Amino acid sequence: MHTTSPSPDSPRIRILGIETSCDETAAAVVEDGHFPLSNVVASQIAVHAQYGGVFPEVASRQHIRTIYAVVNEALEQAHLSLEEIDAIAVTRGPGLPGSLVVGLNMAKGLALASHKPLIGINHLEGHIYSAWLASQEPGDHHPPQFPLLALLVSGGHTELILMTDHLVYQRLGATLDDAAGEAFDKVGRLLGLAYPGGPAIQEAARNGDETAFHFPRARLEGTWDFSFSGLKTAVLRTVQDLQKSGRGMPLADLAASFQAAVVDTLVSKTLHAARTFRVREILVAGGVSANLALRRAFQEQREFPVHFPPPSLCTDNAAMIAAAGYFHYLAGHQDGLDIDVLPTWPLLTTETLSAPSASK
Ligand code: KG4
Ligand code: ZN
Repeated sequence: MHTTSPSPDSPRIRILGIETSCDETAAAVVEDGHFPLSNVVASQIAVHAQYGGVFPEVASRQHIRTIYAVVNEALEQAHLSLEEIDAIAVTRGPGLPGSLVVGLNMAKGLALASHKPLIGINHLEGHIYSAWLASQEPGDHHPPQFPLLALLVSGGHTELILMTDHLVYQRLGATLDDAAGEAFDKVGRLLGLAYPGGPAIQEAARNGDETAFHFPRARLEGTWDFSFSGLKTAVLRTVQDLQKSGRGMPLADLAASFQAAVVDTLVSKTLHAARTFRVREILVAGGVSANLALRRAFQEQREFPVHFPPPSLCTDNAAMIAAAGYFHYLAGHQDGLDIDVLPTWPLLTTETLSAPSASK
């Protein structure tokens, strides 16, 4: 599919995005797929921190309480009424069923009341399109170019995806066990750090020596897959040995060495795939793409231009859902008011993605 950007004179397209797949209740308005006019995220992190992770039923009930206010706030900050919105894009999956239902029903109600198109979006696709969002002035914006390789690294997913055009996805590989973000969260917990582990490990690693411990890098030669469970177990063993020896816990060194192992694994396989598939650019998205060591490692190589989302748009938000919604809108995609959530929806090419049979 080929989409072109509208000319400067064409009317601007404004998409309202809604995201409730996990523990953020989010709504945003994005103009022409690139420029966020508003981006409201009500985080539940404080609510879930006491459980050390996301508690599904608590999450969905928290979404119910906040969704109406969050959507209103997104429209208000954009200085737009619902009538001035062109379409409503909402995360349909993958995610927690009870959480997805809250956002989808809100979006259906808005679509019904305003007679605007409803567009169901895959959350992973949303993360990818976060790299199209501008953080700066419109003139500074350079959208990613095809063919590109997307490394998607979030709390639930770690995938390498080849894109030859908008909305066309070919999954090359994925994690066989823990996602990269999940590994950060689990290692954070065993190091006694706060939830979520990713930002906490990044902070703890700041003054650490990344060569202090040599943790394994699972290469999985001959595939484009990843594995992080062996690394997590190696950190656990090292922590247990240190505890037994009574030598104290060098937290900064452990965090830095673990982080370096994750970064190394992700960067080396992504570069290898980028060379093999002769892509023009690399795109890195998902919560872990906020990681400074990962950004630095990709920026230090000179072989491929690398796109990252603006830092504030790496973790879950609705601007990314609206950005993906814009490209679906341009392609004429629209869903019926009878669509269900798809909690385990894989990211597939457009044809399968928009087919009603794309069930869980
Ligand atoms: O994309 P996201 O917000 O939610 C999912 O779709 O899963 O990703 C959340 C994940 C968590 O595992 C969190 O620990 C990780 O992203 N994360 C980070 C950083 N910020 C968030 N991991 C490493 N470094 C960070 N700075
Ligand atoms: Zn996410």
